[in-house]
Amino acid sequence: MARHRSQPRIYVALDAANESRVRELLAALDPSLCGIKIGKEAFTVLGPRAVEWARQLGFPVFLDLKFHDIPNTVAQACRAASDLDVALVNVHASGGRRMLEAAREAIGASENAPALIAVTVLTSMEDADLAEIGVTDGAEVQVGRLARLTAEAGLDGVVCSAREAASMRAIFPGEDGLVVTPGVRPAGSARDDQRRVVTPTEALANGATSLVIGRPITAAADPGRALETIVAGL
Ligand code: C5P
Repeated sequence: MARHRSQPRIYVALDAANESRVRELLAALDPSLCGIKIGKEAFTVLGPRAVEWARQLGFPVFLDLKFHDIPNTVAQACRAASDLDVALVNVHASGGRRMLEAAREAIGASENAPALIAVTVLTSMEDADLAEIGVTDGAEVQVGRLARLTAEAGLDGVVCSAREAASMRAIFPGEDGLVVTPGVRPAGSARDDQRRVVTPTEALANGATSLVIGRPITAAADPGRALETIVAGL
């Protein structure tokens, strides 16, 4: 039996935070081609309604709230996310083993349960930022350490840069292992504020199992067509 819901190949990052824009984007996209990622900004403004709108249209939802708190609080938040019928939930691996295990237990491992993944080191942090908070081994070592801890705690995978995808896939192998990568840009599209981008095909070849793509789709004149073009090129 699968240990979590199956995942779409693409999650479109819905970073809009007003109802009419969110509804417009949802209406423009085909739920058989993608899931929807709802993050802190949209969720803080719109609340669980945003998840419901996407679910009603048949989209799998990645609730990207990166929970990081004491184990009991994270477990309750994960249970609440499960009740929203989402497909994917995430936490910060730096919350530690007991927090990760509490999240795992709260989510459960059935084919109807959301998948549960962790953020290792935020890609906005460089070695110097880590050193300032006492992590002196550098980002690469810390990413590996936290990914192994995440696997030991029984989580399903990680969010990471496509550049780290191959080494992460080795830690989360098989059909149930998940490596979810943002920072993806189709060849020729604007990089926006992303720095180290890869194309969708490169990300999948590197071992990514789902891609998070925002502005190349949401800022396109025709978001539905932009999504179809990306899917056709995979
Ligand atoms: O528009 P774009 O494709 O850059 O959107 C990427 C999405 O993935 C945004 O929601 C962004 O916050 C998120 N993300 C990211 N890089 C990370 C983690 C999350 O771009 N390392």
